[in-house]
Amino acid sequence: MQKIIILDFGSQTTQLIGRRIRELNTFCEILPYNKYPEDDHDVIGVILSGSPLSVYQDDAFHIDLSGIRGRLPILGICYGAQLISHMYGGKVESAGTREYGRQNLQYIDRKNPLFKDFDEHSQVWMSHGDSITRLPEGATCIASTETVANAAYCIPGEHPIFGTQFHPEVFHTLQGTLLLRNFVVDVCGSKQEWSADAFVETTVKELREQIGNDRVILGLSGGVDSSVVAVLLHRAIGSRLTCIFVDHGMLRKNEFRDVMRDYEGLGLNVTGVDASDKFLSDLAGIKDPEQKRKIIGRDFVEVFNAEAKKITDAKWLAQGTIYPDRIESLNITGKVIKSHHNVGGLPKEMHLQLCEPIKWLFKDEVRRVGRSLGMPEHLITRHPFPGPGLAVRILGDITREKIRILQEADAIYINNLREAGLYDEIWQAGAILLSEVRSVGVMGDERTYENPIALRAVTSSDAMTADFAHIPYEVLAKISNEIINKVKGVNRVCYDISSKPPSTIEWE
Ligand code: XMP
Repeated sequence: MQKIIILDFGSQTTQLIGRRIRELNTFCEILPYNKYPEDDHDVIGVILSGSPLSVYQDDAFHIDLSGIRGRLPILGICYGAQLISHMYGGKVESAGTREYGRQNLQYIDRKNPLFKDFDEHSQVWMSHGDSITRLPEGATCIASTETVANAAYCIPGEHPIFGTQFHPEVFHTLQGTLLLRNFVVDVCGSKQEWSADAFVETTVKELREQIGNDRVILGLSGGVDSSVVAVLLHRAIGSRLTCIFVDHGMLRKNEFRDVMRDYEGLGLNVTGVDASDKFLSDLAGIKDPEQKRKIIGRDFVEVFNAEAKKITDAKWLAQGTIYPDRIESLNITGKVIKSHHNVGGLPKEMHLQLCEPIKWLFKDEVRRVGRSLGMPEHLITRHPFPGPGLAVRILGDITREKIRILQEADAIYINNLREAGLYDEIWQAGAILLSEVRSVGVMGDERTYENPIALRAVTSSDAMTADFAHIPYEVLAKISNEIINKVKGVNRVCYDISSKPPSTIEWE
């Protein structure tokens, strides 16, 4: 499949470039700046991202473009544009002050293919401390602003090179998507074939080739990512896929039962393992959040592996890793800075190979693929839920009684969000039991001294940043009344109005 490669020099907006290009129905991969693939037969163009560094710094990131230049079109954005200048006879100097914000183009060469259909004084977004004071050899200036003489340049040729000092990927560059379209479609020749249906078709074909007649094991969590992987694999290899769904006892109310039913309805071959006794006894008395996570992680691997080993002829372990999981895990030098949640300990003695068919997808693309596969809507739109489940939503140690209280409160909360038509607007919602805090209340004529429940709901696009959801007071009031009246052990309800950062989505 045709693809654009984005080489990442560490800018915060690199992911956005990827998103914009996918929105143009063109497949793209974001790779660390020094990891250009050896085999690039399906690459149609290359984009160099921005960076927090300066090209003339000693520790700046440099690459060798000689294998790409003249063979494929290149677009350098900000640092990318400066790097090309620096490499090919231009000059980059400190601008003295950092230029940050909106500007309007004063000059624009609208005959240049990059600016096809552009408005005359189109608004662009700058964020840079360096300027290109001399263009690279063979380049002509194709756009300027009042303060930035070389806001964009072009080195013409069969496979041209472009550089823009501004960021086309950000919202405030009003015609940024048009610029990227001009590059990706007109210059690089994208056929814009990337769609959920096309993804399903090619992935199923590739999975059949990759897996042959082997057997695959997949851990299901009830979430959309692993469920989509299950259905894709099921379509590719049918009953040679065995799914394992572990109940650690800290799922939502009735979730294990309901999700098992869904999976069976999809024709999947699923083994459900109720390991709640083991998890809860190992967690008894543990209050520290990181220790809880460690115990759950360890127990999960143990239970999963014991089950997986029963499938003696399995050759592959499939996982629902998605793109943001991997981006979080890599820094620009390609070193792992945070191991993502999906990488558990594989049963080493089984020598399983990893199969991660949706590792290039963003969350909304996973959902589109789910729809294309005909999965039920409630599985597709389900909010993300942390692997350790309610364990990180019970502040303090975990008991069956506390889980029951939280499950009841959480179910009331989520049902009300659904009834109010708010569930799908919210990225993630859940109740938290502040089991170490007690406050006084009055019920009927009696004094109560019980725990509060905190409600959390956030809007987000990737869980990296989040704002609290602005749920109407009437809906919050109804939820609060219902929880306090129906859930014994709770006499107060609070709504969490913090954003991420500085807070996190989960309380632990
Ligand atoms: P935070 O709390 O870090 O959460 O803002 C970001 C996203 O990650 C989920 N999360 C987890 N998922 N294991 C998981 O599988 C975990 O230990 C874990 N901690 C947080 C959280 O629900 C949110 O979607």
